Amino acid sequence: MGWVRSLTVIALTFGAASVEAFKEQEFKKCADSGFCERLRGKQGDSYSADPKSIQLNGAVVTAKVQHDASGAAYDLQLTNYNGILRMHIDEAASKHRFQVPWVLQSELPDSSQAWTKTRQSSSLLQLQSGSAQLTLTFKPLRVDLSIAGTPAASFNARQMFQYEYLREKQEGDPAGWWEETFKGHTDSKPKGPQAISLDLSFPGFQHVYGIPEHAASFALKPTTGEGIESEPYRLYNLDVFEYNLDSTFGLYGSIPLMLAHKAGLTTAAFWLNAAEMLVDVASDNSGTQTQWVAEAGVLDLFFLLGPDPATVLQQYGRISGTTAMPQMFSLGYHQCRWNYKDETDVLGVNAGFDQHDIPYDVIWLDIEYLDDKKYFTWDKNYFPTPIDMQDKLAVTGRKLVVIIDPHIKRKSDYYVFSEGESGSYFTKNKDGKDYEGWCWPGSSSWVDCLNPASRDWWAGLFSLSRFQGSTKNLYIWNDMNEPSVFNGPEVTMPKDNIHHGGVEHREMHNINGALFHAATWQGLEERGRDSYGSDGDRPFILTRSAFAGTQRLGALWTGDNKAEWPALKFSVPMCLSLSIAGLPFVGADIAGFFGNPDAELFTRWYQLGAFYPFFRGHAHLEAKRREPWLYDGTTTDRVREAIRMRYALLPYVYTLFRLAHTHNQPLMRPLWYEFPDEAETFSMDDQFLLGPSILVAPVTEAGASSREVYLPTSTRWYNFHSGTAMKPASTGGLLRSQESPKNSIKVDMDSIPIFLRGGSIVPRQERARRSSLQMQGDPFTLIVALNDSAAASGALYLDDGHSFAYKRGVYTERALTYADSVLSNAAAGIASTLLPSLDVSVPLPAGAKGLKSDAVVERIVVLGLPGGPAGWKATVQGSSQFLQAGPGPLRLKQGLPESGLIIRKPGLPIAAEWSIRLSKSS
Ligand code: NOJ
Repeated sequence: MGWVRSLTVIALTFGAASVEAFKEQEFKKCADSGFCERLRGKQGDSYSADPKSIQLNGAVVTAKVQHDASGAAYDLQLTNYNGILRMHIDEAASKHRFQVPWVLQSELPDSSQAWTKTRQSSSLLQLQSGSAQLTLTFKPLRVDLSIAGTPAASFNARQMFQYEYLREKQEGDPAGWWEETFKGHTDSKPKGPQAISLDLSFPGFQHVYGIPEHAASFALKPTTGEGIESEPYRLYNLDVFEYNLDSTFGLYGSIPLMLAHKAGLTTAAFWLNAAEMLVDVASDNSGTQTQWVAEAGVLDLFFLLGPDPATVLQQYGRISGTTAMPQMFSLGYHQCRWNYKDETDVLGVNAGFDQHDIPYDVIWLDIEYLDDKKYFTWDKNYFPTPIDMQDKLAVTGRKLVVIIDPHIKRKSDYYVFSEGESGSYFTKNKDGKDYEGWCWPGSSSWVDCLNPASRDWWAGLFSLSRFQGSTKNLYIWNDMNEPSVFNGPEVTMPKDNIHHGGVEHREMHNINGALFHAATWQGLEERGRDSYGSDGDRPFILTRSAFAGTQRLGALWTGDNKAEWPALKFSVPMCLSLSIAGLPFVGADIAGFFGNPDAELFTRWYQLGAFYPFFRGHAHLEAKRREPWLYDGTTTDRVREAIRMRYALLPYVYTLFRLAHTHNQPLMRPLWYEFPDEAETFSMDDQFLLGPSILVAPVTEAGASSREVYLPTSTRWYNFHSGTAMKPASTGGLLRSQESPKNSIKVDMDSIPIFLRGGSIVPRQERARRSSLQMQGDPFTLIVALNDSAAASGALYLDDGHSFAYKRGVYTERALTYADSVLSNAAAGIASTLLPSLDVSVPLPAGAKGLKSDAVVERIVVLGLPGGPAGWKATVQGSSQFLQAGPGPLRLKQGLPESGLIIRKPGLPIAAEWSIRLSKSS
């Protein structure tokens, strides 16, 4: 059997010892890396900018910098992109240091804004732009930034800056400069030492976040502890399965973006560098100090000046792009395991969802569907008629996702290999030959996606004519793209491998996976245009590895977690860190990849997972089958309830993705994102917000009968299920239940503690369907949750859900507002209501007619009306007819309290202007 073959491959590769144990020992600590040993925690040399060399030209300042001891020369450039400051330092002599391609948006230079010089002396230059002030001190080189007079960030305040210049090898050079060995793997280091160290201080900030991917707390802990607590955060994309929790270990993706937040100011730093990077964090009364060390590349640092969280994320989006607008189907539930065995199994699971009335959108095939682990093929014994199978899925409204990895089996009669070899599309080893390593298929070579020709070739493989057995109902999963190499150093590629243009793997390792993902994206985009015409089909590709810019390509999951309670808990900070680092389409394997979750853990994971932006169940080859109906009936009911809750919220989730696409706003948000001055929330990561309106406080402890919930104090909150207003807490925002003396709410196994923010309007579609496709055109329910001023606002975005027609304006954006007893629906940018702090609206393209929709509003629930829900009349303005209205429950469920005013069957079109007036019956 196919999946048994894979195990044999691993066992053969690693011997009888446990694969996991083997992997655990394979990873470096700081002491194992020459560059970390040389630079971490060390005072740098003296560098100075030559005052005579300073030139100010509009938005750009240039200067010559020198390493005072050796005279090595560097070019410094400071560019102002209106709220973003870019600081670039490279060696003056052209020595071909690697500048990371692909990440930066091409329009970046157009938005630059002139500096105003406010002071220049022999020791410093001071510049102003809007509320931002920059001071460049010449000797020792230093940059200080402040926003509206508040210090925001400093470069080289601690003088740890060091820029190892490229040099010729000499007799007597220290050991480790030109070669180093780890666990039997020798790195030839032909360019010698080339690392860069810098320190960034965030004065007055006690909290920093970001720099994913780590299985760590959301607020970054100091790396100044003992033992493992003293290891720096490692940014080096690695395949670490059964990864440790609460650790600074590098995982599959790296985004070198760090946010600093305090009441009144949010700011961030992003270092565009794809080499291995290590980050230390320390804090004291004066603020947070960090040191960043990269093994190679250039210093290309962006400061995002904020001043608030939404603006920082928007600034980051201007640099590296925003989230791809996903297809609606991809926001539904995904059912995966390693592996569904054959076509009968796939169609059986598909039918199982219908039999048990559980909605889902996508079934997935892991590596066992392949013939001999050769991508773009099918194991004909088990998948003899893949097109038929996909067509049958399509009839039920479901899609298929199959895995396609970057390692290509070296077999001369395999067309992908022979084309890759003859086209020279593979990554080379240090001797210039195609690199050979070991992965699922045995001996393999890896597509070199730094090479544009390789990317074009790879993209072409996805066309329906080339990928035999594929249909336009099939989407892709890119796994192992760190890349994972079973017999490579640290289970990845040797750093001295060579990519297109002579680039060492060392210089680009962290962007390797993103470029592979990008090539696959190109393939599906081209396929979409071929199949559907110019409006195309939005690609869906899940990736494991990521870098800055991955958000433009879609979804990421957090890899090989365990079916254990701590992994459930850590999935929240992991997803929050990725989200805040500009990658919002994220989720963790539900209910843990390794092992067999009991019914309680299984239930709790679905109850949380329904609020992950990416919502997928997945399990290891050896895990027991766990489709939701294989547990007891009550568990199945609870899982169905959680999945249905997600489906009902799809209009809200889709609208949030639109905002991610247009304004780079995350879906999963820490509480401080929306309540930036509530200091109690700054280190909180056991609860989060989904968009601005829904607070999720998952139960992540076994046997819990209560949990503590913090409800931000500056607004009122409603129980999401019952619609009852929460009693404001007597201390802070901690919720005191009536029954319990503790600061907690009671929970049972049915509880999904979520809360609706007062002042918000949330659109839902509440009819239970088989998949998101069948929900198209379904009527809407609007939940209007009033704030203390009896007002609320919300938004809805609608388009066709699958194509790029929205780019030519085939969409509608609705602003929903309630004020002065009138609920109105108007055409307006969703940012104007969901993101009032950002005033950038997206205009409809000229001549666009928008989206036509026949969908209507079938129900409106108004919570928190002054004096309660009884005794109100509702009329459509401009008509004298009363709508049916009276007290009722928030959700269509018996036994719930009559918490709101329910307006039944108003029948008004969702995509039209109207308003409804509420008045007290006399
Ligand atoms: C590793 C991935 O992380 C996991 O999700 C997948 O099931 C296996 N590779 C097999 O493809």
